Amino acid sequence: MSRYARIKVNDTEEVAKVQYNFDQLIDRRHTNSSKHDNNTVLFGREDVLDMWVADMDFQAPAPVIEAIKKRAEHPIYGYTFPQASLYDAIVERVDKLYGWKIKKEWIVFSAGVVNGLFSAVEAFAHPGDELIVQSPVYYPFFSAIKGRGGQVIHNQLKEVDGRYEMDFEGLEKLFEVRTSFPVRSPRIKALILCSPHNPVGRVWDKEELQRLADICVKHNCLIFSDEIHCDLLAPGVEHTVTATLSPEIEQHTITFMSASKTYNLAGLATSYVIIPNDALRERFIAARAGHNSGNVFGYVATEAALTQCDDYLEQLRAYLSANFKYFSEFIATRLPQLRVANLEGTYLAWVDMRKLGMSPLELQSFLREKARLALDDGYVFGPGGEGFERFNLACPRPVIEEALRRLEEAVNGL
Ligand SMILES: Cc1ncc(COP(=O)(O)O)c(C=O)c1O
Repeated sequence: MSRYARIKVNDTEEVAKVQYNFDQLIDRRHTNSSKHDNNTVLFGREDVLDMWVADMDFQAPAPVIEAIKKRAEHPIYGYTFPQASLYDAIVERVDKLYGWKIKKEWIVFSAGVVNGLFSAVEAFAHPGDELIVQSPVYYPFFSAIKGRGGQVIHNQLKEVDGRYEMDFEGLEKLFEVRTSFPVRSPRIKALILCSPHNPVGRVWDKEELQRLADICVKHNCLIFSDEIHCDLLAPGVEHTVTATLSPEIEQHTITFMSASKTYNLAGLATSYVIIPNDALRERFIAARAGHNSGNVFGYVATEAALTQCDDYLEQLRAYLSANFKYFSEFIATRLPQLRVANLEGTYLAWVDMRKLGMSPLELQSFLREKARLALDDGYVFGPGGEGFERFNLACPRPVIEEALRRLEEAVNGL
C-alpha cells in the first residue's frame, strides 16, 4: 500500500519518508462507504462508477493510521476532549502554511465543518434572517441555512470567459435594496464563503477576498469562511486565509477548517473552527447542540495529519494535478463539446455539458443510464449549476480512464 524510503535532505541528513502509491485500487465496497455502498439507492443502478461525494479513494497517511491504532489499543473509548498538543498543532499549522498567527483560545472543535456551519447559523441568525451564498456552491450550505430557519440569498458567481468571478456589484445591491427607503430592514446576517470554491475550483486571490470582505464589514455582515479545501492547491497557486486580510476582517470572520479533505479523514467527523472575536466565539459555543465531547480517534488522527504528513500532502498534490491534466486534456481533445473549468484548488472538476442540449434531469439520467457514472449534478449546487457536472478526481488514474471511456462512448452514441 505504501513503503518507506530514505530521502536525502542534504549531504549529511536523511529522513524516512513514505512513498504513497495513489495508483493502487482499493476496494471500498462493503465498508459502509457513503460513496461506494449506496449506488442503487442514490443512482438507481449498481454498476455506476462512483466519482461523486468529496472523499478520496486513497489510503490515509501512514502516521494517521498508526495514531488511530495506538489509541485503539487502549480498550476504553469514553467521553473525551482534544489534547493540548492538538491546539498547538493547529496554531503552528495555520502560521506555517498561511501566515496566520492565532491563539489557541480561538479554536473550537466541531463534528465536521457542516455541523459547525449549522451551529453558526443557529448562533447568529433568527428564523427568517438571510444568509448569502455565492452559487453554484457546495449545497449543504443551503441545508445549514434552511435547517435553522434562515433564508438563502444567492449572489451568483459570474462566468467570464469560462472562469468564475465574484459578483461584487450584485453583492452591494443585495445590501442596498434592504437598507434603502422604504424597506430599511436589513436581515442579512452572514455570507458563507467557500474558499477555495467547491465546485468551480477557484482559489480566490487576495484582491478578490479583500473586496468581498470590505463589503461584508461595511454592512456588518459576518463572514463564515469555509476553508476546508485550503491545502488542496494546484502547482503555483496560493491560498489566502480571509481572516489574515486585516485585524478588522479577522474580528468579523469565523473560519472553518479540517484535516478531513486533505488527508481523507471525513468519517472521523472532526474539524475546527477559528473564532478570534471573543463575543462571537461565546455565542457560537452556546449555540452548539450536544455535549461536544468529540471523537477519540478524530483528535489523535488530526494531530498526526497536521504534524507528520507533509510528504503525503506533497505527493497527493502532484498526483491530483496530474489527474486533472489527464482529465482536462482528454476532454479538450476527444470531447470538445464539453468544457472543463480550470482547477486551481480542490480535486473536484467542474464540467460544462450545456452544449449537449439536455435539461438538467435529462443530463442526469443520460450520465447514469448511458455513461454509467455517479457524479454530482450541477443543478444541485444552485443557480448557475444547471448543465454542469462535478467529477471527483481523487481516485487512481485507471478510474479516471474508465470514466472517460464511458463518457466518450455515451456522448458519441447520441
Ligand atoms: C466546501 C466544503 N465544506 C464542507 C465539507 C464537508 O465537511 P465535513 O465533512 O467536515 O462536514 C465539504 C465536503 O465536501 C466541502 O466541500
